[in-house]
Amino acid sequence: MSSVVETRYKSPPECKLSSAPPESPSFYQRLVESIRPLIIISMIVVKGVPSAVFYQLTNPSLGFFNPFKWFDLIHKLGFAKILAYGDEIWGGYKRPLVEQANGKILEIGAGSGENLKYYNKDNVETLYALEPEKSLSTMLAENIVKHGFAEKSLLIPVGIDDKDKLAAFGVSENTFDTIVLVQVCCSLPNASAHFKYLQSLLKPGGKLVMFEHVASTDPLTRILQNLYTTVIWKKAALGCELNRASGIWMKELGGWEHVDLLRPEAENSGTLLPHDIGVFTKASYANVAHD
Ligand SMILES: C[S@@+](CC[C@H](N)C(=O)[O-])C[C@H]1O[C@@H](n2cnc3c(N)ncnc32)[C@H](O)[C@@H]1O
Repeated sequence: MSSVVETRYKSPPECKLSSAPPESPSFYQRLVESIRPLIIISMIVVKGVPSAVFYQLTNPSLGFFNPFKWFDLIHKLGFAKILAYGDEIWGGYKRPLVEQANGKILEIGAGSGENLKYYNKDNVETLYALEPEKSLSTMLAENIVKHGFAEKSLLIPVGIDDKDKLAAFGVSENTFDTIVLVQVCCSLPNASAHFKYLQSLLKPGGKLVMFEHVASTDPLTRILQNLYTTVIWKKAALGCELNRASGIWMKELGGWEHVDLLRPEAENSGTLLPHDIGVFTKASYANVAHD
């Protein structure tokens, strides 16, 4: 039996968190889980087609006759729809995590802005929302206005790799009270290489909050994660990898005064998208050099 633990952030009763290893799946659960990535990829296509048709009709251009343009639109617009769908499923876990963000906040890979609704606006001094993907940052800009963050936010259309450009936007050491990572470590090229940098951006005592799908500890599930990632998932999901141990890597970085690293109690060890939910508080001694 897994144990439910008390945390300093309150998730709703149906979103219990646990620090214990996940339970084993039934045969049926494992079977369903083993095709989940295929179901998600099909949904990207099914949801992307109507959005692409609408886009092509409302933005007439020669691109209408270009199959590559259609492919790109279906892929990217369908992916944004999947982010919104995922938000409906995981919102109960994300809200209590994101709403504890305060002060100067940096959200990495903010996507289309699905997390904006979870911030406690009264506690936000400035939200720096970093999103390099053009189709997503356009939606992010609209959602920033829709959710009333226009006066309190800075949209940075730059990737985490471009540290010089980020510095020009004010993203520098010991600046942020909170860093928000929601389903982004799976997509950042060479994610763990940026973890020290992210830590350096926090003020001492600042918090990094994380909601990430991660590598499974179950050997069979891990084999499936590796297979899917290599064969189809990475291409279909804009560079996302299913097999990154992001929570563990962040913890092992050291330099944290406190770490809460939990997982949804409802997830069993057969899931191909198991989650780490973490709050990492930077220690005052952690002003380490980074690359
Ligand atoms: C799975 S999406 C998650 C989006 C959003 N956080 C959410 O939960 O809806 C991953 C995000 O990481 C972004 N991303 C990819 N490479 C990046 C990079 N080098 N720097 C910053 N963000 C990046 C993608 O553009 C995308 O928005």
